[in-house]
Amino acid sequence: MNMKISLYLTPGLVDEQALREKIVVAIDVLRASTTMITALKSGAREIVPATTIESAVKIAANLDAHQTILGGERHGRIIEGFQLGNSPGEYTEERVKGKTIVFTTTNGSQAVVRSRYARELIVCGFVNLTVVRDHLVQKPSDIAVICAGRNGDFSMEDTVCAGMLVSMVSEGATEPPVLCDAAAAALVLYRSLGKSLLTMMEHTDHGRYLQEIDMGDDLRVCAAVDAVPVLPVYEGNVLRLRKTDTTEPPAR
Ligand code: MLT
Repeated sequence: MNMKISLYLTPGLVDEQALREKIVVAIDVLRASTTMITALKSGAREIVPATTIESAVKIAANLDAHQTILGGERHGRIIEGFQLGNSPGEYTEERVKGKTIVFTTTNGSQAVVRSRYARELIVCGFVNLTVVRDHLVQKPSDIAVICAGRNGDFSMEDTVCAGMLVSMVSEGATEPPVLCDAAAAALVLYRSLGKSLLTMMEHTDHGRYLQEIDMGDDLRVCAAVDAVPVLPVYEGNVLRLRKTDTTEPPAR
């Protein structure tokens, strides 16, 4: 049976219950996916995605303050009282190794929480595309790709990333996957705009906004294909690295 790939251009279109039988890939290229992937690669123990600032603060208050970091943004800027914002470069080994990060952003953390009923939920950006593709083609399962979008609207960079993933899965799968219209459209967008991902992101709504607030350097980091080859997997309300990606010695 050919795997089916469905694509949700914004989280608002997602029917949460329909995800139960699917592997879900959540994409927020600028910048939440890239930041979460980088934080786990830097040795963060786990990430707890939260939908509101209030719930993030409440979750953190119930955890060991020495081992917990509040991270996230609103309007692209660090949230008052939080330790870290949403620039991937802030999540260094020195700052996050061994820590639990309670994380809330405008779109990315919402897309993850909205997909929590998935059979399996993984986080994707340009920085870990090949690891995600390799994982998906190993599993004969239908896939749902969810773009975080921008305040409920379409996001070009998320859709181009989804299109690139669809293209790579199609190349790697034994049988060509069956694409829904949105997935087929994303493939066309990737084929026309994927030649220079950085140039593409410099001209998107969110890319322009990040440049306006002096966070333009993050675009190059978020456009670096396969620069952070690890796979974050959501389980029990937290994101952790897939066992094979972690440097932690296996639990005795
Ligand atoms: C989001 O989740 O909305 C974005 O990651 C926001 C940002 O770039 O800070």
